[in-house]
Amino acid sequence: MSPKISLSRYLVEQQRSKGHIPSQLRLLLEVVARACKSISHAVNKGSLGGVLGSAESANIQGEIQKKLDIIANEVLIEANEWGGHLAAMASEEMESIHLVPNRYPQGEYLLLFDPLDGSSNIDVNVSIGTIFSVLKKPDESDAISEKDFLQAGKHQVAAGYCVYGPQTTLVLTVGDGVAMFTLDREQGSFVLTDEHVKVPEDTQEFAINMSNMRHWDSPVKKYVDECLQGKEGPRGKDFNMRWIASMVADVHRILTRGGVFMYPWDKREPNKAGKLRLMYEANPMSWLIEQAGGASTNGRERILDIQPQQLHERVSVILGSKNEVARVTRYHLEK
Ligand code: AHG
Ligand code: MN
Ligand code: MN
Repeated sequence: MSPKISLSRYLVEQQRSKGHIPSQLRLLLEVVARACKSISHAVNKGSLGGVLGSAESANIQGEIQKKLDIIANEVLIEANEWGGHLAAMASEEMESIHLVPNRYPQGEYLLLFDPLDGSSNIDVNVSIGTIFSVLKKPDESDAISEKDFLQAGKHQVAAGYCVYGPQTTLVLTVGDGVAMFTLDREQGSFVLTDEHVKVPEDTQEFAINMSNMRHWDSPVKKYVDECLQGKEGPRGKDFNMRWIASMVADVHRILTRGGVFMYPWDKREPNKAGKLRLMYEANPMSWLIEQAGGASTNGRERILDIQPQQLHERVSVILGSKNEVARVTRYHLEK
């Protein structure tokens, strides 16, 4: 039997033989994984741990926070503050950036996260997750400010998510493809269970919240209409639909068996570019998908090329199997 490869060993090998990650980044990823383990334990306890339900506060996006949104945020901050690998953090749940306190050494990296993705699924025992993105602090920056975070997604040095589902799975890229690690609860460690993940180029499955159909823009309507016509329509094949309402779980399915995920701009809030957040949802997921051979655009341009203007900026997202993303993007550009 070949030996099990732990996340730690994978990271050491990435550092040693492949030169992908400096030791500070390796430490950072170990710490994020440890925090995810702790969030996974809290999620697992559910009602027994008193972690379900609303916290009766709102975040910067105006969304009511769940208790677990706040717990997960605190776990990630607590875990990452003292190790000396970070300069600052930013989170969906915090209006402004969180600097590493002066009493700790300051590192070279910036960490962004969506501590708990899929909040509407927490109380109904459906898969949720944590999404994270790592950037390097600009060389010339001593006093870190929000401006230092505003780097296009193509500059990420690591990105990933952890999905808390029937299994807890950590999915990671450091720019050398996508690797998946399953949490072995008895051993307390993440074990490599999939490497060189590939998203099939074609698919017969799409993911979108259909209840927003009447608000969509015409290219999205056209694409979904054609899928719904099935074998008899222009696509000449039947399509299946899935919508979990946790981006982590939908992206995890797409990384595993293909598909296209869309949360496009719509007319409900015409002044917002979309619902999902560019820097800690769309960017890390887009890099993972691209690293697995898929594609990701906002309907017009590659998400990883977008220069962010704000920390909590929103974006329209179309990602997954390459040929489908190309088709939806073409419909937008033809309009
Ligand atoms: P979050 O829970 O971090 O606010 O993110 C939820 C996001 C995303 O995970 C999901 O795809 C989408 O919101 C679901 O939105 P709808 O409820 O509009 O379908
Ligand atoms: Mn989210
Ligand atoms: Mn969230």
